Amino acid sequence: MVGSAIVREAASRGGFHTITADRGELDLCNQAAVFTYLADELPQIVIIAAAKVGGIHANSTYPAAFIYENLAIAANLIEGCRRAGVPRVLFLGSSCIYPRQAPQPMPESCLLGGPLEPSNEAYAIAKIAGLKLCQHYRSQYGLIYHSAMPTNLYGPGDNYHPENSHVIPALLRRFHEAKQRGDTSVTLWGSGTPRREFLHVDDLAAACFHLLSLDDPPDWVNVGVGTDLTILELAGHVARITGFTGAILTDPSKPDGTPRKLLDISRIKASGWAPQVGLATGLAAAYEDFRTSIACGRGRL
Ligand SMILES: NC(=O)c1ccc[n+]([C@@H]2O[C@H](COP(=O)([O-])OP(=O)(O)OC[C@H]3O[C@@H](n4cnc5c(N)ncnc54)[C@H](OP(=O)(O)O)[C@@H]3O)[C@@H](O)[C@H]2O)c1
Repeated sequence: MVGSAIVREAASRGGFHTITADRGELDLCNQAAVFTYLADELPQIVIIAAAKVGGIHANSTYPAAFIYENLAIAANLIEGCRRAGVPRVLFLGSSCIYPRQAPQPMPESCLLGGPLEPSNEAYAIAKIAGLKLCQHYRSQYGLIYHSAMPTNLYGPGDNYHPENSHVIPALLRRFHEAKQRGDTSVTLWGSGTPRREFLHVDDLAAACFHLLSLDDPPDWVNVGVGTDLTILELAGHVARITGFTGAILTDPSKPDGTPRKLLDISRIKASGWAPQVGLATGLAAAYEDFRTSIACGRGRL
């Protein structure tokens, strides 16, 4: 999802020759292949958007794969970039690098201030390692390797898989299917009260180019919208957009996770970037993407 948005953003800005490789061409867990690829291509900028990504179910079922593959992707690419003399690297982490009980909204300074949320600890540790690799390569080698920590993302190209998806694509699918079946209600996992923040992927792509334009970017910086809403409120938006008119119920017997997860985005805002895509507009576009994926039988369903 993010890689495609970055390619679209580069094309719309112009002036970039974009090089991409999918997993079939280059397995980023294969260190020798990554080193050779970078030495052959000699890019001027590398944006590390590839990762093993998933929702709470996937993270808690496959923690070994989440830590190993994400560590390998970060280490292989960052060291490969150094060896190939790549002057600029932007590594994408995630807001789940911050402690479970971080102050809200979460400033960059709360990194490593307490225990992580256990359900995605493996993923978070690998993302913290990627951020720290960039920070220490910058300090030791003088290379401008830096990181961005996006909040929850959504948009075209999202993963709509029934078990491995994040909350917005999961809700789009559930409400769409409930409407098609004529269900009278949809039951949300948990109490519906946790508050979450959602950023459209096109806003993240714009933020990446903004950060890459800075001569002295922060080692890591939060990228979010700065406001949040409850899961129940989000479900109400999704119901409206999908045309589902039944009841929205909650199931408080299921775990809720952290009550609130909101990024403090004052640092990136002060550097001259702000999100542009409102939630209602972004959700409507995401639903169109989902419907097109279903109609064409393409995408991650
Ligand atoms: N989505 C979010 O809500 C969110 C939130 C915060 C941060 N992020 C971060 O943003 C970045 C992009 O996420 P996304 O949502 O765009 O995820 P995504 O749609 O799942 O894209 C990840 C891409 O990485 C590729 N990949 C994974 N392992 C690979 C490997 N070993 N070799 C080659 N390619 C590999 C995947 O290829 P396959 O399709 O072949 O698996 C996929 O194309 C990630 O770093 C993620 O941690 C995402």
